[in-house]
Amino acid sequence: MTTYIVVGGFFGDEGKGKILAHLALSDSPEIIARGGVGPNAGHTVEYRGKRYGLRTVPSGFIYEGARLLIGAGVLVDPVVFRHEVEELNLKDRIGLDKRCGIIEPKHIEMDRKNKHLSDEIGTTGTGTGPANADRVMRVGKLARDIPELEEYLTDVPLEINSALERGENVLIEGTQGFGISLYYGTYPYVTSKDTTASQVASDVGIGPTKVDEVVVVFKSYPTRVGEGPFSTEISQEEAEKLGIQEFGTVTGRPRRVGLWDGEMARYSAMVNGATQVALTGVDRIDPECRDVRDYGKLTPKAKKFIEKVEEDAKAPVTIISTGPSLESTIDLRDEKL
Ligand code: IMP
Ligand code: MG
Repeated sequence: MTTYIVVGGFFGDEGKGKILAHLALSDSPEIIARGGVGPNAGHTVEYRGKRYGLRTVPSGFIYEGARLLIGAGVLVDPVVFRHEVEELNLKDRIGLDKRCGIIEPKHIEMDRKNKHLSDEIGTTGTGTGPANADRVMRVGKLARDIPELEEYLTDVPLEINSALERGENVLIEGTQGFGISLYYGTYPYVTSKDTTASQVASDVGIGPTKVDEVVVVFKSYPTRVGEGPFSTEISQEEAEKLGIQEFGTVTGRPRRVGLWDGEMARYSAMVNGATQVALTGVDRIDPECRDVRDYGKLTPKAKKFIEKVEEDAKAPVTIISTGPSLESTIDLRDEKL
């Protein structure tokens, strides 16, 4: 039995979606549960020639043997939820906690019209901040108040803890990234909740003693969307020259791009309690590594970079991504753990 929590180590968009999909297919977890903030997240999974942009459903959904759950700490926009569930045909195996906070149209409107949020902070405009504010004010609706969600309601902590008692594997998905944690990020340019592993455990209702592995996902060239400090940022022109320009999954906004930040990696791995690191975008360090599936076939330049990441994060790099497709993954857990 192993409980995995996967979180983002930089500012989000580290490639968690792909790492989660890989872990789901390799480890056959009985339950895949989503923690994190809400549909402000955009996780991309490319599998069997199809590209999925997910905002609410767990990224591990491609492993068909898993029960999919959304924890009580996660905000749910019923429109987004039902759209994804129907599109991906997940009705029979997805549940959400009866205590999930609900995003209503008024929250989205407020997120987009409020100048502080939309212009100064540069939020995703998905209503998560205002919905969390309503929850703190104890006026927000919960999933149990919404008739259209009734068929999905469950007790997520009970389901997960029972699976753990039976000795099953459980995979828990975080969203966003360390740098936009409400507590540890670049406040006020942050999201509306903590984003670290402990928060994610609480989101789905398991205690810290039940977590075996914390995988912190870093990307070789970090990115950031929205406003706020980004100490290793490079110009869009430089990013274009390097061929590493990116656009957001949810907002379509160009992402700001930066160089590897060892200091941030160390701090983020520390607060998250990283036991492993997943490193994405290694093909950007050296294009010759694109789609390589064998550690031995990585170039010396890439290997040297990986060693530096291990020194910075003080945790082994166990999963390496060399391209967007799920197949372009090197899994070293058997050797390194
Ligand atoms: P909010 O979470 O929509 O309130 O946005 C607050 C800040 O967090 C903005 O800078 C967003 O761009 C950023 N943010 C929120 N969710 C994500 C994410 O999933 N990936 C990257 N940035 C995000
Ligand atoms: Mg994203």
